[in-house]
Amino acid sequence: MKLIKLNAIDSTNDFIKKNKLLFSENLFCVYTFNQTLGKGQRGNIWNSQPFKNLCISFYFKPNDNNVKKLFFKLNMLVSIKILHFLKSYKIDDLKIKWPNDILSADKKIAGILIETSIQRSQIIDYIIGIGLNVNQLDFNELSNASSIKKIMKKDYDLNLFSKNFIEIFSNLESELQSATVDDIKAEYLKNLYGTDSILKYNYKGSDLKGKITDIDSSISVKMIVNGKINIYKAEDLKLIY
Ligand code: BTN
Repeated sequence: MKLIKLNAIDSTNDFIKKNKLLFSENLFCVYTFNQTLGKGQRGNIWNSQPFKNLCISFYFKPNDNNVKKLFFKLNMLVSIKILHFLKSYKIDDLKIKWPNDILSADKKIAGILIETSIQRSQIIDYIIGIGLNVNQLDFNELSNASSIKKIMKKDYDLNLFSKNFIEIFSNLESELQSATVDDIKAEYLKNLYGTDSILKYNYKGSDLKGKITDIDSSISVKMIVNGKINIYKAEDLKLIY
């Protein structure tokens, strides 16, 4: 896979968005340890202390665009891949927080932002942005954030960590083709926070307690609330943790 390492950049996702036509590859990666204006989900900012963490984006343009439910599969697969990678580093108590955050010991250590381009109502390519908190210790007011170093009490070599991390994405397209949506979903649900316990959420401004039973797509989740199964959209639901 082609790798582009930048000394500093506003956002690796935006770098790809602006420059993707300069590359002929269908899969390549851009990363930095110094992202100055990172973007998060729901229009948030992704803050990352310089030279402490990995900020990385993969450009992915599938050769075969007819794979059923590709976006749904990709969304789940990216979280699963990160979780498995962190498991190989023996990071404690890993969980996926729906739709795509990675928690360790109930704190967020990685976030994912997947952006798409659409042509004639079809997604033609994906920018998979991942922020991984590696060696940062201080998160100021972000009480739910943590890093691998904070949890494991040791420092990680960012270059080596990044090299190993990038490798797990090298077979992305063949994995998406060979695994069924049910296979991927089963693995995703197995590692999803809130499937075996009742958690507290904020839904459109009010609190509710629910247990996740299934996910329907990357944007909606099924939960049992007061004995009834309801469907909730990601944009309306926020886990209180
Ligand atoms: C979130 O949890 O809100 C998603 C965070 C995604 C952050 C990554 S860092 C690399 C890539 N470039 C960006 O500007 N954002 C993503």
